[in-house]
Amino acid sequence: GKEKELIRGSWESLGKNKVPHGVIMFSRLFELDPALLTLFHYTTNCGSSQDCLSSPEFLEHVTKVMLVIDAAVSHLDDLHTLEDFLLNLGRKHQAVGVNTQSFAMVGESLLYMLQCSLGQAYTAPLRQAWLNMYSIVVAAMSRGWAE
Ligand code: HEM
Repeated sequence: GKEKELIRGSWESLGKNKVPHGVIMFSRLFELDPALLTLFHYTTNCGSSQDCLSSPEFLEHVTKVMLVIDAAVSHLDDLHTLEDFLLNLGRKHQAVGVNTQSFAMVGESLLYMLQCSLGQAYTAPLRQAWLNMYSIVVAAMSRGWAE
């Protein structure tokens, strides 16, 4: 439907530049909740959050997150096929001390990145379409987290 078209259309260009867009997202996330930075154990040696944001391990996580979003966009017609992967992903985040409210904050940061990157193309229906997709992803991760 219309929602899927909006998501696919906007991801077409963003998905080609995953790291820079992911960095915008996580910069926003750490602005919203600086304490999340400490959950990345490899960031303990960083002076500032800007240093952390450019560390290779951190950029690797940014890439991992963007690949999960990419997978969700590719599987809009059959998101349930990602269920087991997302349950397990939620479990892993529980193990590293990330709480489920923080997943929602990543969602806000995702919307912020979309707004920055898409400009005029960031419309209310587009925002809602992304929110709906991200909510499905987070719901599965949260179920895995709580199991
Ligand atoms: C792994 C933190 C959100 C995807 C990890 C790890 C940490 C972490 C510490 C393990 C070390 C590493 O691989 O870098 C966080 C924090 C988040 C967050 C603080 C903020 C709420 C997310 C989200 C996604 C995601 C929203 C995807 C939608 C991944 C993936 C891995 C990972 C794919 C690798 C899991 C594996 O080893 O199989 N995360 N994460 N993360 N994260 Fe996150």
